[in-house]
Amino acid sequence: MKFIYFTDIHLCEGFDSDKGFERCLDSMLAHDPALLVNGGDLGVTPEAVSLYREMTKGLGLPLLHSNGNHEMCSGCLPRDLAGTASSSTDVDGVHFVILDVVRYFEPTEAHPANWHVLADESMLAWLEEDLSGLDRDTPLFVASHVPLSTTFPFRHGQRPGMDFPTNEVVNAHRILALLEPFANVATLHGHDHENCRHFVGDIEVMTTAAVAGNWWRNGLDSRTAGGREPQGYRLVNVDDNGAITSQYIPYSSDPESTAAYERRLESGRRFINVFDASPRTTVEVEGTPMNAIDPLAESSIHLSTHLYELPADFSSNQISARVIFEDGRVHDLDQTCEEVG
Ligand SMILES: [Fe+2]
Repeated sequence: MKFIYFTDIHLCEGFDSDKGFERCLDSMLAHDPALLVNGGDLGVTPEAVSLYREMTKGLGLPLLHSNGNHEMCSGCLPRDLAGTASSSTDVDGVHFVILDVVRYFEPTEAHPANWHVLADESMLAWLEEDLSGLDRDTPLFVASHVPLSTTFPFRHGQRPGMDFPTNEVVNAHRILALLEPFANVATLHGHDHENCRHFVGDIEVMTTAAVAGNWWRNGLDSRTAGGREPQGYRLVNVDDNGAITSQYIPYSSDPESTAAYERRLESGRRFINVFDASPRTTVEVEGTPMNAIDPLAESSIHLSTHLYELPADFSSNQISARVIFEDGRVHDLDQTCEEVG
């Protein structure tokens, strides 16, 4: 079976968000998925929520939703109900869990956001009970708006492990421990507007870039700010043996949407940017295997995890590279260097 995860639409922001989401919907439905899973952040206004409901009514397939922090701003999620909307469902022999991890926070000078993120004891107990009768070979997906594993706070100047976090989930390690016994399991997240796939043991953590990209700042050409992912969504495949693979699919017509050769203007550093690489993706430049940047190095601040840095003395403006994804897809890149901000 196959399904689609899409997230962070942020309707009624920037330019052409309605046209963009319409194009995204058309592109997603063309895959004939068994269901759609929305990762949250429909938009900050009640109008955005109404527009989303209008545009998604009568799709004719299940549409799941995990609440984002903006659902509280828009009134879509009343404060006192935040944390109560966790649920699970089975579709075509696959178990889907939605965790409602965003909670209201009365803003202070030290913590100006009106929300924080946690899995409290009642959510953990509910999840343990929900999973208790499930065969360990059943394919399992757990969605929460904010990632259950991420280096984003470090890379973006926050202190990992902070009180009342906004980019981490308190008790995430306890959720992951509950998922660990399953043979085929992945988690689904948005919030960070970046692709960041990695593994915790055998659990694949799939954080997916935003439908809105960089908040529709350039309409249908709003690549995300740091990772420069084109606007898109994730097509997830579960094969007959339960094995999980996925592919990030841009919905624009950009022909160079898998990888790019970039030189960052400020630092002069050159990278192969593989927009949806994981540590299990192979990237070779002129036959030589490359390593992705270390996400916890000081030099990785403000960078995304799917960048492969070329040596400082590499100055050619033309490059040949090969990308081999875990599912066997091969992408050959033969490209001129692009200067990016
Ligand atoms: Fe968010």
